[in-house]
This record gives sequence, C-alpha cells and structure tokens, in this order.
Amino acid sequence: MEQTYATSAVDLSSVETTPAEPEAGSMIETFRAIGYSLETAVADIIDNSISAGAYNVWVDFDWKGASTWLAIKDDGSGMNNEELIRAMRPGSRNPNEVRHSHDLGRFGLGLKTASFSQCRKLCVISKKKEANPIYWTWDLDYVNQTGKWNLIRILPDLLFEQQLEELESGTTVVWNDIDRLVSNLNEGDKSSLDKFLKRMEQVKQHLAMTFHRYIENNKIKLWFQQREVIAWDPFLINEPATQKFPEEPLQGAKVKLRGYVLPHKSKLTTVKFREAEGPNGWNAHQGFYIYRKERLLLAGDWLGMFRKEEHFKLARIMIDLPNSLDEDWQIDIKKSVARPPLVLRDHLKAYASKVRAQAVEVYRHKGKVLQRKYASVEFQPVWVEKVRHGKRFYNINREHPLISQLLSGFTGKAADLQRLLRLIEETVPVPLITIRESEQPDAQGQPFEGSSHEPVINLMKLMYQSFIAQGKTDEFAKMAILNMEPFNLYPQFIDSVSE
Ligand SMILES: Nc1ncnc2c1ncn2[C@@H]1O[C@H](COP(=O)(O)OP(=O)(O)O)[C@@H](O)[C@H]1O
Ligand SMILES: [Mg+2]
Repeated sequence: MEQTYATSAVDLSSVETTPAEPEAGSMIETFRAIGYSLETAVADIIDNSISAGAYNVWVDFDWKGASTWLAIKDDGSGMNNEELIRAMRPGSRNPNEVRHSHDLGRFGLGLKTASFSQCRKLCVISKKKEANPIYWTWDLDYVNQTGKWNLIRILPDLLFEQQLEELESGTTVVWNDIDRLVSNLNEGDKSSLDKFLKRMEQVKQHLAMTFHRYIENNKIKLWFQQREVIAWDPFLINEPATQKFPEEPLQGAKVKLRGYVLPHKSKLTTVKFREAEGPNGWNAHQGFYIYRKERLLLAGDWLGMFRKEEHFKLARIMIDLPNSLDEDWQIDIKKSVARPPLVLRDHLKAYASKVRAQAVEVYRHKGKVLQRKYASVEFQPVWVEKVRHGKRFYNINREHPLISQLLSGFTGKAADLQRLLRLIEETVPVPLITIRESEQPDAQGQPFEGSSHEPVINLMKLMYQSFIAQGKTDEFAKMAILNMEPFNLYPQFIDSVSE
C-alpha cells in the first residue's frame, strides 16, 4: 500500500523499509573534517575530564617523529567496560538530553571527533574505583579495511595501564599516529623538533586561557609535561588600574555581562604588558569573551557588531553562559563558536559601546597629556591661506614636514611635482565645499575618518622614523607629530609610532 506523510496518522509499521547505514570507512573519515585545531581538540578532551569530576589533568607527549604520541590523563571517576564502549560510540548521547549543570559535553561526539581530527588511532584506558583498568581503541585504518564499526582491544604501551593503576580512578586518552601534527616532521631533525615544541607551547597557552577560571578557582590542576600550568587572566583582575564595569544580568539573570578596560601600557610592567597581550596579540584579543560554565569558548570577538581596531584593544567583556542555553547561543560541536540570540544583540551592543568608549579614553590618555604639554610648539597645517592681488587662495604648506620631505626626496622632475601641487591649489573646489558645508555641516568627514586607521598610523610611523633618522629625540618626534595636521586629530596613536 502506498502511503504519504500527507495522510494523517501514518502507520509506519506496515511500510517497506531498507537499511541505509552510514558506510563506516567514509563516515569515520568525515569526522576528521569538523574543523578542530590541535588546541581546540585537546581542550575538548579536557572538558570530558572536568565533567567526570577530575581534579588533576595531565597532558603528556613523547616526541618520536611519526610515532609521536600525546596523552591526556585525568583522575576523574573513570568508566567501566560498558560505559567505555558507549563513550567510544559516535553520538553516544542525544544533544537534546538535559545535562547535569557542571557537564561540559553536549553532542556525545567530542571525544571521537576531537581525537580523529588529529590522529588515526585513539585509545581510551579507564579505571573505576576498586576495579582494574580497561581499554578500547578506534583504529581508522582498521575501520577502513573492514568497513565495520568495530573497536579493537589494543594498548599502545603498557605504560598507560600502569599509570592508571596508580590512581584510585581515572581515564587516559591516547592519540597515536597524529598525522595532522607530525606529517612532514622527521624524528632526527632539529627544526622538526622545534616546530613540534612550538606547537605544543601554543597548546599550553590555549589551555591556560580556556580553563583559566577553573585553574584560578582551584577547581582543577593542569599539568603539561609534569609542569603546572599557570592561568592566563584576560581581564587582569588583580591589577589596580583595571577598570571594572558593573555586572549586568540578561535572559532572566542566567547570563551575565561584565566589561573590563585594561590598564594603559604605562601602568603595567613590560613583562605584564606582554603577558596580558594573549596568544594572538593585543588587537586580536579585544571584544567579548564567552564562557560556558566558566569554560572559555571565544577569546575576544565583537560578534559582528564592530571591527577590531587598535584603539579599542583595551576593551574585553566577559559573558557568562550556563550549559542550558546552547541552542539560544548556537554553540557548535567544537565549542569554539557562539552567536548571541537576536533579541540580545542591541543590549550587548549598547553595553559594549560604553566599555569601548572608556577603553578609548584610557588608550588616548597619554597622547592627550603630551599634546597639552607641547601646545606651544608651532603647529603645521597642510593648507594655508594666501592673499594674491587682493584675492584669497589656499596653498599647500611647503613647510609641513610630510610635504617638505616629499619635495626634497623627490627623484623625478621636481618641476612636474611643483606643477601638480599648483594645479591642486588653483582648483580647490571652494564654492562647492562652501555650499555643502552650509547645507550639511555634519556630513563632512574628518581627515582619515572611516573604517580603518591603518593609513594614518602608518603615516605617523613614517614621520616618526624620519625624525629619528635625522637624529631627533623620541620626545621631539612625538611632539612635532602631535602638532602636525592631520595627526593632531589622532593623539591616541602616538604611542604606537615607536613600537
Ligand atoms: N575522561 C572521561 N572520564 C569519564 N567519562 C568520560 C571521559 N571522556 C568521555 N567520557 C564519557 O564519554 C561520553 C562521550 O564523550 P564525548 O564524545 O566527548 O561527548 P559529550 O562530552 O558531549 O558527552 C561522555 O558523556 C562521558 O560519559
Ligand atoms: Mg565531550
């Protein structure tokens, strides 16, 4: 009998069916392509350790070229044989299932997808209290060969089992055949080792950032090659010069918003300033920091509301989410993306605008003080008014350092350049400007106003370098730049010229 969904109350028990199971080999390879980085993959494995109540998490690795392994061990509650087999199954839990409030998991996929994104052999060894360790391994090559979703009971090294025996309970996740990381690296090669260690250092920094609140609040201890990992605090909460905005509750107080303006460079030691910058640099780390159960998902992002710009770099805003709003905030499998619900965007934007405005104030402060100090220095405009035969003209100021440098360093025909300047001067569209200015005075842009401040900063830097090359002091150079059109409008950038 033919049935369609249009007929109400379809009885599916009488309809013909056919199996269409995922083909094991290709499906498991697909898991590799979810887009984890090494850093986010390790962090996802550690989430499981935290959810399992671990206090200590140890990340260890052994450099052996293509045979390099990486292991993440915890002293959490561990799993028995059945639980481990379930844990190894892709989609072991339904994403819609209500989770315990401290559970960092969601899709029942992380262990598998995070691991396969990096390696071809995933072994999990686990031990429950008063039980012996048990283990199972996913081997992508074996799944490919057999076309079956079968785990194999194989242990990469007895060492891992022995280590767990020393713990009351716990779990070790071992990655072998880490092809994504070690391909193109050779064991005996010094530069390969350096590259590998550099990547590992980046992983450590990412973990120090992702789990900083767990570490700070002594909820976990994280060990990296037996060394304790120190938390990286994006907000410099303990610095007296950090400005804290009042906390704002959202979504029935389930979500909390708190803005921070970090101290001006001059208020921090050089070391502190470097540290505070973060793994991706000052500019990249401005914006919202989204936490799900105190676990960092996003480390500096304006969520499409604003662009990242140098003078906003001191603004960092904490957003705290529970694990019950994943759908509202569109948390992805990798836990590295979050999008606020539409209804909150205006609110977030208004809050962020206040924090950003204050961040600019702090950023500019030093430049403004300098500008006041040097107010007596002769100001150099780009345009000057001249009177010729009783008539008014606007001329380009040949004394302006940018112009005079151009003229003296010009290698083409100087007369041509002079003719060009003259042409511009003679044809300034004064009547048009006058009309427009009287009609719409607010519609006129400021010099270099607009999307990016790169060009004006670059010009300031060139100017600075040329003063220094002429043997002028840093102070003189900055003073002159602050008294020069159009840089007088951008005192906030004066510090970056000497960086
Ligand atoms: N380190 C661990 N200790 C104890 N149980 C774990 C550990 N890692 C994974 N598990 C179990 O495996 C399940 C599946 O993990 P995972 O694939 O990361 O999905 P999710 O974290 O979304 O549940 C977890 O829900 C948990 O029950
Ligand atoms: Mg997980």
